[in-house]
Amino acid sequence: MSSNLTRRDVGKIVGGAALGMTTASQAGSAEMAEETQPEPAQPTTAKFPDGFRWGVATSAYQIEGAVTEDGRGASIWDVYAHTPGKIKDGSNADVANDHYHRYRDDVRLMRDLGVKAYRFSIAWPRVFPDGRGQPNARGIDFYNRLIDALLEAGIEPFPTLYHWDLPQALQDRGGWLSRDTSKAFADYASYVAGQLSDRANNFFTINEFFSIVDIGHRGIDTVVDGAKVRIELAPGLRLPNGSLNQMRHNTVLAQGLSVQAIRASARAGTKCGPADNLSTAVPAIETPENIKAAEIATREMNAGYLTVMLEGKYTDTYLANTGKDAPKFTDEELKIISSPVDFIGINVYRPSAYVVASEHGFRPIPFNKSHPHMQSSWHLLGPEVMYWAPRLLHSLWKTKEIYISENGCGASDEVSAGGIVDDSDRIMFLRNHLGHLHRATAEGVPVKGYFHWSLMDNFEWSDGLVNRFGLVYVDFKTQSRTPKLSAAWLREAIAKNAVV
Ligand code: NOJ
Repeated sequence: MSSNLTRRDVGKIVGGAALGMTTASQAGSAEMAEETQPEPAQPTTAKFPDGFRWGVATSAYQIEGAVTEDGRGASIWDVYAHTPGKIKDGSNADVANDHYHRYRDDVRLMRDLGVKAYRFSIAWPRVFPDGRGQPNARGIDFYNRLIDALLEAGIEPFPTLYHWDLPQALQDRGGWLSRDTSKAFADYASYVAGQLSDRANNFFTINEFFSIVDIGHRGIDTVVDGAKVRIELAPGLRLPNGSLNQMRHNTVLAQGLSVQAIRASARAGTKCGPADNLSTAVPAIETPENIKAAEIATREMNAGYLTVMLEGKYTDTYLANTGKDAPKFTDEELKIISSPVDFIGINVYRPSAYVVASEHGFRPIPFNKSHPHMQSSWHLLGPEVMYWAPRLLHSLWKTKEIYISENGCGASDEVSAGGIVDDSDRIMFLRNHLGHLHRATAEGVPVKGYFHWSLMDNFEWSDGLVNRFGLVYVDFKTQSRTPKLSAAWLREAIAKNAVV
């Protein structure tokens, strides 16, 4: 802002309210107040615990490209993205960020950000082009090279085994509706952990069960800003309830089988756990009754996923609600599903509901039409979820290690004529969410780290390449990368280990 602006001009620019434009009598009383009021204390620094891991996250299909290179097989996402009408901007991820060839540059970007950890995913069809059988050495080699580059840069690798790119060959044999897929996943997990655990000490197993099962195999119809919006993910099916419930069971079974497989094949001390999008109920007003209601709601909303994994049984309400469509399962399977994990990762974007106590345990409050949202239509804003999600995870299941395995937002980022990207909304989002996360760690909730979604703009599934989630702007024509202002924000937060 140039210095020859008058006080009146400044007042106009900011709408007159915040700066200047006081009346003489208001000015007088402000001076008096200055004389008598003590100086406010210095702003407190919201510091995270020592050793808190700061990281960024990505996934294979969203950034790698090179979909036919070095023996990679097809995944359900290759097929889906090439189906006309499925991706909003008509794009696909055949090239995406070309990370397969540019991973060294991308590791440098992370090093410049100061991140200590990187969550990326392994493409199952690179390692087993048909989903099972003979491993493809050139496929696993890519991840060997990536991990070596990360370690050289002082960044800890956190691979995810399944981030939605199911080998198409397995889809053709029933996909997640078949228990054979759960078994194939465990074999794949065993192989990868055996190959990589000499250098990767932490593995995320499966990413976002609800997205895989419910959004991928039923889809969601919702109304946003008065318009109908359909949200779908590959393979884009519309299955009946019974099938969906069985599939839910098969994915948590895959989770348990993979934990057992990792324990059997990985180097001793290797840790693992899921990265789930916990559906979180936030108490609308913080009273003991409403907090209890939020616990009850959160436990029930996750009954088919984290609740059964952590309790070893389906809740009575879940079984009653599913009725004749309940999944078929054995006690032995429940034991496998609840195989103890070392940590729980939660992807935290928004509250699923605000609740208050009621005679039925809880009453979800409908989101007001005017409730603000970020760029993605589903992304209602509610930063308190970043406190309540880990807090409830801990109070419900005594989880000892929690990671925020994802948090971030899409925005309408553009490069200015001067070549910079000022993403005010992402900075607002980050500061508010991390402020609430700090409240959780300050109260002793064992959150061990935070992975921002995402390192760089990438293929945002059915939204294609136009919904940008990165700290780094990517020009998909030239593949040039430009760190946004939010990257500078996060770099500062990492350096200070605090909310800035
Ligand atoms: C969660 C998913 O894990 C990730 O792949 C996706 O891009 C983000 N949400 C944003 O939608």
